[in-house]
Amino acid sequence: MTHGAAPGGSGGVPPRGSAAERRAERLVLLSFGITFLTGIALLVLYVAGGQTQLEGILLTLCLGGLGVGIVIWAQRLMSSELRIERRHPIGGDRHRIANLGEALSDEEGFTRRTLLIKALGGALAGLGAALALPIFSLGPAPGRALFETSWRAGARLATIGGEPVGPDDLPVGGVLTVFPDGDDIDPNAATLLIHVEPGLLRLEGDAATATPEGFVAYSKICTHAGCPVGLYRAAQHILICPCHQSEFDVLAGAVPISGPAARPLPQLPIRLEGDTFVAVADYSEPVGPSFWNMGR
Ligand code: FES
Repeated sequence: MTHGAAPGGSGGVPPRGSAAERRAERLVLLSFGITFLTGIALLVLYVAGGQTQLEGILLTLCLGGLGVGIVIWAQRLMSSELRIERRHPIGGDRHRIANLGEALSDEEGFTRRTLLIKALGGALAGLGAALALPIFSLGPAPGRALFETSWRAGARLATIGGEPVGPDDLPVGGVLTVFPDGDDIDPNAATLLIHVEPGLLRLEGDAATATPEGFVAYSKICTHAGCPVGLYRAAQHILICPCHQSEFDVLAGAVPISGPAARPLPQLPIRLEGDTFVAVADYSEPVGPSFWNMGR
């Protein structure tokens, strides 16, 4: 036990005011300075166009400087000596109270600690500049793209080659992949047109009226993980996704009846215009896998 021990070297910490202590301080300041400068340089380099190898070197120096500075500070400037000061009598010693401010300013390492903390703040600012890079690297916001496809009211249903599709093109039990006429490059617009016996469909309301003559259209993008739902078992009226074997009941709004998919394939409302099918509107809900702000 040390009572009111005078500051000095202990546990590898150099004596206060010694050359070794000043050298350790300079090393800490240098390390934090490197972190600050390389962090800012990294940000400037990124904004100016970036260079991967150089960015890697700067990031290494930025993080390394902070780590080295903290380690030197902890090991060479912070005493690990245990000190216990005996409690003074309560009340008394006006002289001691009057000199309290002086005593505080003489506290060991007070000035040094302030300087080092400022340097640490600068280093953290540099590190913050470096860590801002991932934010700048984010791609463009998806906007409404996740909620819309290229289907529009009045768009004709057409094959990939651009041939408009009518009732005569698909026998009962048949299935055909269709896109909006003139726009077959939007993968989210891929739609399965299926012909079933009209009396078998178990749909209600708008969903039922959007199935002219037993033709019903569902998104081809699986609601589990986005694979194309490419198989149709006509005898059971079941669509099957080959990726993980989700099955969808065509007669009941393409609800999933087995497999990992948790959401029905969205239905595209269609109607007959002359001898060609056209879309009544875009899908009423997002196609493809469910994501963060969807109920299922
Ligand atoms: S992607 Fe269709 S079941 Fe997994």
